[in-house]
Amino acid sequence: MSKVSIIYWSGTGNTEAMAFYIAEGAKEAGAEVNMVTADSASAADIADVTAVALGCPSMGVEVLEETTMEPLMCELDGVISGKNVALFGSYGWGDGQWMRDWEGRVTGDGATLVNDEGIICNAAPDDSVAEQLKDLGRTLAGL
Ligand SMILES: Cc1cc2nc3c(=O)[nH]c(=O)nc-3n(C[C@H](O)[C@H](O)[C@H](O)COP(=O)(O)O)c2cc1C
Repeated sequence: MSKVSIIYWSGTGNTEAMAFYIAEGAKEAGAEVNMVTADSASAADIADVTAVALGCPSMGVEVLEETTMEPLMCELDGVISGKNVALFGSYGWGDGQWMRDWEGRVTGDGATLVNDEGIICNAAPDDSVAEQLKDLGRTLAGL
């Protein structure tokens, strides 16, 4: 059975809602899902998984949340080479620059970026983003 970790930071629940849709799709497709918030996650959460989905909204000025997610990401930078990594997150008024930077970062780390790009969503996920996220979950379960 495939094992999928979904690790996310969310301040007001939008990215968390995205995480739940990914989990729904992955579970539906038969994966064992480990959902963990960034404050209690570590490299151990991705040690023996088939794929990991990382979620964080655009914070600061087009950056990852700096107190919890950025330090976690620094830890993961060293261990995600060769792993299947999916990215997702919500944003407000920007144009998605934080996600483009994050995509470049994980591919630079040597990870395989699932679907070649992250899923971004303005504010809370609508039905169409929800479907995309469930599809991503199914994809992760099938890797
Ligand atoms: C401190 C702070 C900084 C933010 N910076 C950006 C930004 O640079 N670009 C952007 O598009 N949205 C920005 N936002 C908006 C959030 O990304 C947006 O509200 C998102 O839906 C929050 O997701 P969450 O509910 O998972 O926390 C910022 C929000 C906060 C609170």
